[in-house]
Amino acid sequence: MMGEHLYIFGNWKMAQDLAAARSFVQSWSEPASELVTAAIFPSDLHCAELVKLSANSSLKVGAQNCSNENSGAFTGEVSAAMLKEVGLSHVLVGHSERRARFKESSDWLGQKVDRALSAGLVPVFCIGETKDQRESGQLEKVLDEQISALSENAKQAVIVAYEPVWAIGTGLVPKLEEISQAHGLIQKRLPGRPILYGGSVKPENSKEILALPEVSGLLIGGASLSPESFSKIYRFALESCR
Ligand code: PGA
Repeated sequence: MMGEHLYIFGNWKMAQDLAAARSFVQSWSEPASELVTAAIFPSDLHCAELVKLSANSSLKVGAQNCSNENSGAFTGEVSAAMLKEVGLSHVLVGHSERRARFKESSDWLGQKVDRALSAGLVPVFCIGETKDQRESGQLEKVLDEQISALSENAKQAVIVAYEPVWAIGTGLVPKLEEISQAHGLIQKRLPGRPILYGGSVKPENSKEILALPEVSGLLIGGASLSPESFSKIYRFALESCR
């Protein structure tokens, strides 16, 4: 991992209320590092306040989604520019919960990534296969299709999060060699882009996953809600960069 930048990202989904979010950020006292980026992805409603609260800390703040439109009559939507305006640095695009529940199409996801880049946000493009797709030998095909949503410009600029759908929130984690293999397939298509692993990451398994040469960081759901476990994982990342 020597010399490579690592990313430790916490996807808070709809799981944290404002009081818990504030207290997480206020208790965060980990040192900043040029080699590791730590970011939380809270509810949009909490973002502006958390940006202020984390201003002097090593935490960055990102959003969980953005609109594929710039501005206009899109009730309920939040544009990438609005996210940037309140000081966010990153935005997740294409998380599997959004793909499945909100039927986000590839076209939309490609547009969202482009909007994020134009607004000056770093898009974290989430991809991954379902259990059925893996078991029927379609891993490579699915990853290909998902990556094909990206514009040529986006292919040079995204962070990718590989999150097998069957590993998210289930406690199931692919074997280390399966993570390496999937990351290798993505690397071939997006050379030089950082690829994070996500899906049931905990302090207990984070060290070995971070040690894989194909892994540039972690996107963590459940275990990112506790400052203790998120700090532990961040510290493993700091250690593995030394
Ligand atoms: P999990 O979620 O760590 O709770 O499995 C990961 C994610 O959905 O990004």
